[in-house]
Amino acid sequence: MPCLSTGTTAITALLSENVNIPVLVACGIVNERLAKAARIVGAQGVFVGTRFILSKECRAADATKKDIMDTHPDDFIVFTQSNGYSKWRTTPHKYGKEGLEANKNGDMNPPSGSFYYGMLKGDLDAGVNTVSNLSGLIKSIDSCEKIVRELGAPFTE
Ligand SMILES: Cc1cc2nc3c(=O)[nH]c(=O)nc-3n(C[C@H](O)[C@H](O)[C@H](O)COP(=O)(O)O)c2cc1C
Repeated sequence: MPCLSTGTTAITALLSENVNIPVLVACGIVNERLAKAARIVGAQGVFVGTRFILSKECRAADATKKDIMDTHPDDFIVFTQSNGYSKWRTTPHKYGKEGLEANKNGDMNPPSGSFYYGMLKGDLDAGVNTVSNLSGLIKSIDSCEKIVRELGAPFTE
């Protein structure tokens, strides 16, 4: 079935005008400015993933955290894998580079390696980075408390 994608801002604005329950925004809320934008278009809260990987408490390896912070939005590509869509960083590590080559050759289902070793243990040639493509906007590794205070601030004003 054809699928028309709708961006986070548009879907939040549409939902918040049409439902009578709180709307929480997920995907791409990595700093206070983006949380504030979600609030302005009608969200009552945010649901956050990547920013918490880049927290002091997260047990992902430092190498993984640094690699995630070093990304640029253009580094990512979406593959249509057997279990659905998957978004990876294409460079500069083994499966990222191979995935980019595979894509040029029309292969949309290349191997991604082990997320456990790549994303948790910091063996960056063992598995791809597949978190937010806005992760380059995260400039520091903070405590979870600081992150909650920052991203929650627009909702307590
Ligand atoms: C722990 C974790 C695992 C993820 N795994 C995948 C994945 O397997 N495939 C994928 O396409 N995206 C994956 N993502 C990316 C999410 O689908 C989403 O695009 C991204 O996390 C944006 O939301 P955020 O800014 O709150 O993290 C993952 C994100 C996190 C935090």
